[in-house]
Amino acid sequence: MQMIKLEDVTKQFKGTSIKAADGVSVSIEKGEFVVVRGPSGSGKSTFLNLIAGLITPESGSILIDGRAPRGRRQWAQVRATKIGFIFQSFNLIPTLTALENVQVPMLGTIKGAGKRMARARELLEQVGLQHRMAHRPCELSGGECQRVAIARGLANSPLIILADEPTGNLDSETSSAIMELIKSIHDSRDRTIVMATHEARFIPYATRVISYQDGRIIKDSITNNSPMSGTL
Ligand SMILES: Nc1ncnc2c1ncn2[C@@H]1O[C@H](COP(=O)(O)OP(=O)(O)OP(=O)(O)O)[C@@H](O)[C@H]1O
Ligand SMILES: [Mg+2]
Repeated sequence: MQMIKLEDVTKQFKGTSIKAADGVSVSIEKGEFVVVRGPSGSGKSTFLNLIAGLITPESGSILIDGRAPRGRRQWAQVRATKIGFIFQSFNLIPTLTALENVQVPMLGTIKGAGKRMARARELLEQVGLQHRMAHRPCELSGGECQRVAIARGLANSPLIILADEPTGNLDSETSSAIMELIKSIHDSRDRTIVMATHEARFIPYATRVISYQDGRIIKDSITNNSPMSGTL
């Protein structure tokens, strides 16, 4: 089942001379774990932001779960219900506790404060942070902050997880632990993950590797982890 489809998508930011997306066409199926690689400035974040509808392309089409969202409202709806984000910089709200941060995406989707609280507790337990729920981001380590951000990304049980350098601010050991956590999110294969990373050591987690350069996909290959490997 197709989860994400881009067709001839082009984006050039105002005031720049190069295309951040230069005729990108790709189709991503449900359950894939796609790692997006490429040099700095090649267009990896642009790719993720286009999939999330945070950037509007100049031309081309984007389908999420079989539909092309139109306008801000439809995209906001898609993000709220189908997409979870994990960023390099965590993007947690500094004044809120871990438990409160995880509830933010639920405000528009889950009715009842008690239900939201219960769901947030469950998610924080899932990422191993049951003992840190009442702490604010400044009272947490980088790895713990990223765990909170992952729990928040899972709040509405999204079909798609977009991760932009999720281990970029972490030391190597903590990065490995976060990658194991992301892998465990993928294990049931009912979620689709698209992750931009510079780290070659995370390629073994992927079912597919897309290489970017100058706003274009220059290589696209499935790995041994893919259920499709061996059948092609
Ligand atoms: N909001 C913006 N305004 C102007 N130019 C932008 C904007 N966002 C990205 N760009 C440009 O688009 C190109 C692609 O950027 P992008 O952030 O997608 O690269 P990237 O592959 O994610 O790089 P990195 O590995 O450093 O994160 C770059 O030339 C960048 O300078
Ligand atoms: Mg980037």
